[in-house]
Amino acid sequence: MMRSTTFSLFSIILLLSISWNANSESVHESFLQCLLSHSHPDNPISNAIFTPQNLSYSTVLQSYIRNLRFNTTSTPKPLLILTAKHESHVQAAIICGRKHALQMKIRSGGHDYEGISYVSNVPFFILDMFELRSVDVDIESESAWVQTGAILGEVYYRIAEKSKSHGFPAGVCPTVGVGGHFSGGGYGNMMRKYGLSVDNIIDAKMVDVNGRLLDRKSMGEDLFWAIKGGGGASFGVVIAYKISLVHVPEIVTIFRVERTLEQNATTIVDHWQHIADKLPEDLFIRLIVDVVNTTQNGEKTVRATFIAFFLGGSERLLSIMNESFPELGLAQSDCIETSWLQSIFFWTDLSIDTPTDVLLDRTPALVYLKRKSDYVKEPIPKEGLERIWKRMIELERPTMIFNPYGGKMAEIPSTETPFPHRAGNLWKIQYKADWNEAGTEAANHYIDLTRKLYNFMTPFVSKNPRQAFLNYRDLDLGINHNSDLKASYLEGRVYGIKYFKGNFNRLVKIKTKVDPENFFRNEQSIPLFPY
Ligand SMILES: Cc1cc2nc3c(=O)[nH]c(=O)nc-3n(C[C@H](O)[C@H](O)[C@H](O)COP(=O)(O)OP(=O)(O)OC[C@H]3O[C@@H](n4cnc5c(N)ncnc54)[C@H](O)[C@@H]3O)c2cc1C
Ligand SMILES: *[C@@H]1O[C@H](CO)[C@@H](O)[C@H](O)[C@H]1NC(C)=O
Ligand SMILES: *[C@@H]1O[C@H](CO)[C@@H](O)[C@H](O)[C@H]1NC(C)=O
Ligand SMILES: *[C@@H]1O[C@H](CO)[C@@H](O)[C@H](O)[C@H]1NC(C)=O
Ligand SMILES: *[C@@H]1O[C@H](CO)[C@@H](O)[C@H](O)[C@H]1NC(C)=O
Ligand SMILES: *[C@@H]1O[C@H](CO)[C@@H](O)[C@H](O)[C@H]1NC(C)=O
Repeated sequence: MMRSTTFSLFSIILLLSISWNANSESVHESFLQCLLSHSHPDNPISNAIFTPQNLSYSTVLQSYIRNLRFNTTSTPKPLLILTAKHESHVQAAIICGRKHALQMKIRSGGHDYEGISYVSNVPFFILDMFELRSVDVDIESESAWVQTGAILGEVYYRIAEKSKSHGFPAGVCPTVGVGGHFSGGGYGNMMRKYGLSVDNIIDAKMVDVNGRLLDRKSMGEDLFWAIKGGGGASFGVVIAYKISLVHVPEIVTIFRVERTLEQNATTIVDHWQHIADKLPEDLFIRLIVDVVNTTQNGEKTVRATFIAFFLGGSERLLSIMNESFPELGLAQSDCIETSWLQSIFFWTDLSIDTPTDVLLDRTPALVYLKRKSDYVKEPIPKEGLERIWKRMIELERPTMIFNPYGGKMAEIPSTETPFPHRAGNLWKIQYKADWNEAGTEAANHYIDLTRKLYNFMTPFVSKNPRQAFLNYRDLDLGINHNSDLKASYLEGRVYGIKYFKGNFNRLVKIKTKVDPENFFRNEQSIPLFPY
């Protein structure tokens, strides 16, 4: 009796699992057939489809994994990767993905810190955008159409190829993808002068949930607003953005100056806190704080690295520094004059003489990583800085990168784009831990250290909400299970308010209107309005 019950339970489970497998296999098969049926002879889709049966499936999957935490055998894998080569492939992905109720992950440069562009806990496929990466620069109108599969290095290279006096304000890492970067805000070292990438976007092309290809005019101002900082993946697939170029002088100046605690770092950091957001807009001085060994007796100290970008020559820079920040003791010999394009290498720790076509190189050096973010509204008292240094020395690994705001950032109203962190923010903190050891034990260890530093910083940073930057994706802020409408909305509010503050409500309204069935969803997408 006992035995037969066990047996029948077992056979039920077996039968269930066989039928589930058969069912899911047939879903995959019919999904594939659906994609193929949308092929057009001019733009055949079959050579853009990679299933696990195709030999290069793993290579394609891995080629845009940018956080080694998600490059393990246990990381969930997509049923299929579609490397869209034409807008019609994007349309097919949406139409067939909806028809077969499959989750679609959109990946451009793959730099999402939590890998949400290529990992999911439910059956999913990847729409990969790297084949759609044209950059068409028109100097006469001082604008460019940039496809979302392009990387920032390509954008910079193509602009400089046509003009030495134009540039674009976006991130300092050339391998970051346009798709995630622009749709999530996008900042770089010209932010104090020109604002974010999204502050310089004038048109877009996207495919909506019905497979329609829209531009700014046909999508309307609400949706256009949403995809300039609200994260594209909640609203549709952005194919391209039209950007407005900005002016850069032929000579810019950069410097990097390091000071340890023994070299009065605390006093200098304290001064930086009071001037960094008030300096002329042409000057951006990032501050990196990390823990290093002292040369004597192997003790640890804190090092403050000031790394700057100035839209002008070293003479004017030195006079500004002498007037506003003499404590740093900047010398002419610290300054490097170069072109805007070459200066990009300096920010990636490459020699500024690196041949410019290296900017077209799509593969960065890879590590395991965790990131978090914060905003600071008031200078931290000196005594607070000293306590932070002590805690950093205990934790050792996580570093902090302070990016000053002010200038143009403080002039743009916080409702102008979904990105809300404008006037009133002195600087943003990025918490950063990189490591090279494989395995969950190492990952848990370094993630835990990063969270500890973040927790320690609570009294010094923004509150109610504790603000965060969408492009520094952090699943610690909450995960959406996209299930019950009301639960999903409440989950979405938790991280949504941190990323978007008051703009969250408008994003929810737009989302509910343009994607009422929540096809475009992910772990931190904008939820639907449930009431
Ligand atoms: C090394 C490194 C340096 C960085 N430096 C900076 C910096 O200087 N400034 C800064 O602001 N940020 C920086 N970031 C963060 C970066 O901006 C974000 O991770 C950004 O989202 C990456 O864009 P992506 O296309 O490479 O990422 P992906 O992982 O491809 O995408 C990120 C998110 O956007 C969605 N998405 C991607 N493409 C599309 C599309 N075409 N349509 C709709 N949704 C889309 C994805 O589904 C995902 O949700 C950096 C990140 C890394 C890893
Ligand atoms: C993957 O394999 C299928 C079946 O053999 C084939 O039709 C398709 O073209 C392959 N994909 C690529 C990108 O070659
Ligand atoms: C990612 O994982 C694959 C498979 O284990 C491995 O071959 C590859 O080297 C890994 N990539 C990196 C950059 O470590
Ligand atoms: C640190 O500051 C003290 C007093 O302000 C000064 O005497 C000393 O020279 C400074 N040290 C360095 C390395 O700048
Ligand atoms: C710092 O010193 C420790 C030993 O105290 C050593 O393990 C570590 O490798 C050193 N780090 C660097 C960057 O030299
Ligand atoms: C720095 O400023 C002081 C006075 O504020 C002035 O005497 C000095 O000449 C200036 N030095 C430079 C290099 O501008």
